[in-house]
Amino acid sequence: MVGVDDVINKLSTVIDPDLNKDIVSMGMIKDLDLNSGNLKFTLELTTPACPFNEEIEADVRKAIDELDGIKNLDMNVTAKVMEGRSLDADESMKTVKNIIAVASGKGGVGKSTVALNLALALSRTGAKVGLLDADIYGPSIPLMLGMKNAAMQVEDKKLQPPESNGIKVVSFGFFAEQEHQAAIYRGPIISGIVKQFLVDTNWTDLDYLIVDLPPGTGDIPLTLAQTIPITGILVVTTPQDVASSVASKAIGMFDKLNVPMLGVVENMSYFECSKCNEKHYIFGKGGAEKISKKHNMPFLGSIPLNSGIMEGSDLGKPVMITQPDSPSAEAFTAAAKNVAAQCSIQHYKMKEEAEAEAKWDGLSPEARQKILVGLIDEMVTLGGNIAPEDENKTWAELEHAIQDAIIPHLFGESKVQTTPTTS
Ligand SMILES: Nc1ncnc2c1ncn2[C@@H]1O[C@H](COP(=O)(O)OP(=O)(O)O)[C@@H](O)[C@H]1O
Ligand SMILES: [Mg+2]
Repeated sequence: MVGVDDVINKLSTVIDPDLNKDIVSMGMIKDLDLNSGNLKFTLELTTPACPFNEEIEADVRKAIDELDGIKNLDMNVTAKVMEGRSLDADESMKTVKNIIAVASGKGGVGKSTVALNLALALSRTGAKVGLLDADIYGPSIPLMLGMKNAAMQVEDKKLQPPESNGIKVVSFGFFAEQEHQAAIYRGPIISGIVKQFLVDTNWTDLDYLIVDLPPGTGDIPLTLAQTIPITGILVVTTPQDVASSVASKAIGMFDKLNVPMLGVVENMSYFECSKCNEKHYIFGKGGAEKISKKHNMPFLGSIPLNSGIMEGSDLGKPVMITQPDSPSAEAFTAAAKNVAAQCSIQHYKMKEEAEAEAKWDGLSPEARQKILVGLIDEMVTLGGNIAPEDENKTWAELEHAIQDAIIPHLFGESKVQTTPTTS
């Protein structure tokens, strides 16, 4: 007679390809009920935009099929987006589960185009999405969404974001008068305005808030990264070497600030000729992939160079909406799913870090020292500024690189696979 144990054991063989962990230990199986061979449970995926949703569901059905004695399977598949940011630290934006800041080394690489279409692609999977146009010097989102005349109302001291195509949008461009004055504002004032837009907007419940940052490494990206717990930075770049080396510089800065990097999206990667159906790599090939390898961050997708993308932006009709089945829209959708997967990974990484901190706090100085001594070789390569006699350091005082190295020593292995699985 098949028992609940058998079912759990069998389900434990199903691995989430992104998290590289089995679905049972990741808590994805809920409300399991087994009654004379009738099996019922909920499979709760980490995001409706998971690139492997169908694959995981199929693997689960196959696994259950292989069990003797199951007469009937009633599986309810749902998705609940996990918080990829430490909400405890940020009372003001508790209802926003993930904040994805889109950055680039320089302007004109299609950062806004990518931010917008990714937002629309995520929304299309069923997620609740907001878009903050934080590029105060060149707000282009209103134009790209045909929202030139939208106005932001203030109610209960909160900005009420207008909606377009199901996403909530806030942009400095909605304040036409101020737009012209933006250039005269100095860094701290601008950063203050952006923070206010972020915090004082009535976003209500959001799964993902995409922030279109100004290009480069100016004050706004810096302030944002340091004052609001964000899930991570998404870097947009083009294949040209010049753009890539600029992007590399920006990544270096965010790295120093210890802001998680979600990955790189390459825009204008190739031109797909409708006559020969071949991809032409006009600007060269592999620039963004090189960056992702260099900085050990996931490569999340390539977006083609396509006149439909440009015209859509200029006319206020994004390609994701007007041609949702086009190769361009498919490229955005694939990238969006990879971004969502990286947010889920951030969630589990944060959870693991919290567990590691609790464990570290509970260890005796001797036990801590044993771990630190065991790490000596790694420490040299990590360049960590720490010695074995640092056993009295709190988790927070340990450097990030060292924390990462300690985690496998605490748990036997790291629970979260963080190396990119995407291509
Ligand atoms: N993949 C693409 N194919 C064709 N045109 C694009 C693509 N991405 C962006 N563009 C165009 O390039 C220009 C710059 O894009 P934009 O998103 O405003 O860049 P940024 O925000 O980085 O300054 C716009 O005219 C836009 O329509
Ligand atoms: Mg822009």
